[in-house]
Amino acid sequence: MAGGVNTPQLVAAVSNAGGLGSFGFAYSSPEKIDADLKASTALLNQSHPKRINANFFVFQEPEMPSLDVQKQALTDLKNVTSNHAIAIELPKPPYIPNLEVMLEPVWSHRPEVLTFHFGLPPQSILEKAQALGIQVGVTATCLSEALQIEAAGVDFIVAQGIEAGGHRGLFNPNQPDQGLSVADLLKELRPHVSIPVVAAGGIMNGHDVHLVLQLCAVAAQMGTAFLVATESGASPAHRRYVLNQHDRGTQFTKAFSGRPAQGILNQYMTHMKDKTYLPFPVQNTLTASMRKWASEQDNGEYQSLWAGTAYAKARALSVEQLMQTLHAELLSTKNSS
Ligand SMILES: Cc1cc2nc3c(=O)[nH]c(=O)nc-3n(C[C@H](O)[C@H](O)[C@H](O)COP(=O)(O)O)c2cc1C
Repeated sequence: MAGGVNTPQLVAAVSNAGGLGSFGFAYSSPEKIDADLKASTALLNQSHPKRINANFFVFQEPEMPSLDVQKQALTDLKNVTSNHAIAIELPKPPYIPNLEVMLEPVWSHRPEVLTFHFGLPPQSILEKAQALGIQVGVTATCLSEALQIEAAGVDFIVAQGIEAGGHRGLFNPNQPDQGLSVADLLKELRPHVSIPVVAAGGIMNGHDVHLVLQLCAVAAQMGTAFLVATESGASPAHRRYVLNQHDRGTQFTKAFSGRPAQGILNQYMTHMKDKTYLPFPVQNTLTASMRKWASEQDNGEYQSLWAGTAYAKARALSVEQLMQTLHAELLSTKNSS
């Protein structure tokens, strides 16, 4: 989970409890990636010193709209935040980070797993990872993306259902989204793909894990369930909304980053419904100062509160307690079925 949620403490605690802790390095600098990998490695049990997943976005160069449209997006954002003293400017190029540069610390730390969101990484990166013994996974939201992933020689698929919090892993956000639930997606993939599939979306307890394992998944990827874990780096407002604001529900919005992402409904999402926004990830850069300000003010109405549809089922436990609970629930569901 990008955005500071996945602290080294969270990642290491998940791996030490028998899972695979993941870092969302989408927008991180190489220095931060290096420091996080170092810090988590120091916390890992020495019986599995590399049990980490490093996750990256596959950025496409954005097609920038005319300057008038850019100015409109700036004006809309300024209007939404007009009661607050936030300095907002139009972003300047380069608009996307350099994936090759971001991956340099990964090649030296060699975590066990490397995953990508929003499409396939360049073939050279895939081959380099595999040559170093790193397993590579890529997110799919539909069968056609899964088939492209398998054909490229990737090791496993992360099948992301519409329930999932955060960004939709669509290869092309301008194409229609089939919006498949994780169960329907797994059923659709089962007869057509032969590489392992990891299920993601709305998996909150051991019973949910059992359901996806029954449907052909080899593992479950959980985000929202760990947002309120003791070791999570989620902001205090993010935690509060996950734990207490269950009537709001979640919605997809492009207003924070320019790509569809699911989070708990707040004022910013409501205000921006019919407004202008810039393509991904320029809108993310444009909204950065607003999100930073909201976080400093402990204001949940202007932060991206990414969460999946089942966020009301999140439990505020330590990672160790949560992992033990998940394990016990999985065993008892297995034994009773
Ligand atoms: C706060 C948050 C941030 C996320 N960031 C990323 C990310 O950086 N990369 C990624 O591949 N998926 C990201 N996701 C999606 C998760 O990988 C996963 O698909 C999702 O959490 C599973 O659904 P769930 O949230 O219902 O458990 C994020 C999800 C959340 C809730």
